[in-house]
Amino acid sequence: SEPLRLGIAGLGTVGVGVVRIIRQQAALLEARLGRKITISAVSARSKDRDRGVSLSGYDWENDPIKLATRDDIDVFVELMGGEDGPAKDATEAALKAGKQVVTANKAMLAIHGAELAELAENNGLVLRYEAAVAGGIPVIKTLTEGLAGNQISRVMGVMNGSCNFILTRMENSGKTYEEIFAEADGLGYLEADPQLDVGGIDAAHKLALLAAIAFGTRPDFAGIQLEGIERVSIDDIRAAADMGYKIKLLGVAQKTGRGLEQRMQPCLVPDTSPLGQLDGGTNMVVIEGDAVGQIVLRGPGAGEGPTASAVMSDICDIARGWRGPVFGQPVASLQSAVAATSQRP
Ligand code: NDP
Ligand code: HSE
Repeated sequence: SEPLRLGIAGLGTVGVGVVRIIRQQAALLEARLGRKITISAVSARSKDRDRGVSLSGYDWENDPIKLATRDDIDVFVELMGGEDGPAKDATEAALKAGKQVVTANKAMLAIHGAELAELAENNGLVLRYEAAVAGGIPVIKTLTEGLAGNQISRVMGVMNGSCNFILTRMENSGKTYEEIFAEADGLGYLEADPQLDVGGIDAAHKLALLAAIAFGTRPDFAGIQLEGIERVSIDDIRAAADMGYKIKLLGVAQKTGRGLEQRMQPCLVPDTSPLGQLDGGTNMVVIEGDAVGQIVLRGPGAGEGPTASAVMSDICDIARGWRGPVFGQPVASLQSAVAATSQRP
């Protein structure tokens, strides 16, 4: 059968990972899918940079919108990042041109997801984003497909590896937030704008997407009660340890009688619990469904391999002809999220 032809915009950590898998696993993918995955063209800001992977055989486009609308692509793979700007412009252009879209961009989807879902669904197209939440952990598909028969009561977890790294390094080393922040920055663990990580914004983007799928509501980033980790001191961590707890940046989304409650904030968790035992850059998502009970997903939330692995799962879905709504049910049927007040009654 016909190959599935990709246009990939963004050749950073994730984009290079996707190219690498497509080149290295061509035979495996073809055997599994019954068709080839090919790359027609790629785009990034700098054409001349050595990216450690061969780009031979692919056309180069400077303009991501031109790439997204080329006649010789079936799927636009958006791996540039950013809430607005070229990522959103090119995604819209792709959907208007009848292309399927795969993205890892939680910022764009948490803010513009409903609008983009309308565009996709009105045009009979797929917009997939497994990599956007918890990197390599297949949490989106677990919710939309694996748990499709469940009423979900709660989704919670640790969804930002950088914050978890900082908090666990503070615990283990006894060093201050400022010292460990500098260490994480030096290791390249933080986003280009570190405030996205330590301010809890990146994790809140992810929570907004999970809550939308779990509860059938439009993504509501603004409704999240949000606090980052910048004010967690080494004294807080020591006091928590003395009581048998650890401090984690924990996201919780649940439906209450007063509306959707979404919180992303530093929380005490028992140090012997699975969340308390979660060290370094690892992510964990806990989902509670009425039929299944509790599911715990744990794994790498970032990095080239894990994130590209998730992007590939979306590409493979499309190659197999997967069709489905963006947030687990048609976007037109999503309710407006009514935020519960943060105060307990
Ligand atoms: P990088 O910063 O490593 O790469 C971004 C890429 O986009 C670069 O190749 C850059 O070009 C290109 N780019 C930026 N602006 C433009 C533009 N205007 N036109 C064309 N190309 C452009 O990002 P990541 O690979 O880390 O992240 C990509 C996406 O994946 C983001 O949405 C991120 O949130 C998401 N994600 C990342 C994870 C990770 O572990 N890194 C985990 C989960 C999701 P150039 O290289 O020339 O500068
Ligand atoms: N900055 C994010 C994290 C990258 O640390 O989890 C993955 O989304």
